[in-house]
Amino acid sequence: MNYAHWIRHFQVNRNHRPEPDWGAAFSMEENKRVALAKTLAEYQLGDGGGECRLIGFDADSARAVHPDAAEVIDLWFREEAEHSRLLGFALRRVRGEFIQTTFGFRWFNRIRRWFGAQFEMLVLLVVEIVSTGYYRLVQRHCGDAPIAAMCGLILRDEAGHIIFHRDRLAAKFSDWSCGWRGLAIHGLTAGCTGFLWLTHGRWLRTLGGSLGEFRAEVGLEKRAFLASVARCRKAGLPKGSGAALLAP
Ligand SMILES: [Fe+2]
Ligand SMILES: [Fe+2]
Repeated sequence: MNYAHWIRHFQVNRNHRPEPDWGAAFSMEENKRVALAKTLAEYQLGDGGGECRLIGFDADSARAVHPDAAEVIDLWFREEAEHSRLLGFALRRVRGEFIQTTFGFRWFNRIRRWFGAQFEMLVLLVVEIVSTGYYRLVQRHCGDAPIAAMCGLILRDEAGHIIFHRDRLAAKFSDWSCGWRGLAIHGLTAGCTGFLWLTHGRWLRTLGGSLGEFRAEVGLEKRAFLASVARCRKAGLPKGSGAALLAP
């Protein structure tokens, strides 16, 4: 894997990040404001809030697979912390309340710890694929320019994160998109999509979104991810050719 590429990517991505205009006039129907306050509070915790690092029981060994691996992982999580910061501004804008933990968040972290860093990173990839659908719905339906702009920034970052995982997995498993690894992506994505709709669906519906729309967005992202891995393997790209992987 080309760690130098990813260090550069995260450093460059830190620039040119226009901050949403949080001071802009705010006007929103009350039911939408309440729904956004609820859903954004959970996302502020889950997307870079809480323990923003690898927490699998063997995280240290995952960070030590290469001299630059720890730096790349830290830069990735720094972007996640940035998402939590942005979501904090959005939450204040809709007069929401910050939360410290939820039942789902505690279980999410337990699973990450128990099954180790490789599984943890696979789960985080799936969460990023599913969250892409979430942010697209919020961006489309929130009716607030600064929050929509925030979604745009986060979507830009998550697109990079998904490519980072594709690069990482393509370098690690030449056959990973076939067989059980491909099935694992399908199964985990279906489970995560269902869980997110179960916990956030009523708020996303209030905004104007639908389950069909959410599933379509997630499905699009998942298929694009799997196709890009297959394309990478077919083209015989050198391991870790991050720049080439960014090509459409
Ligand atoms: Fe994120
Ligand atoms: Fe991410």
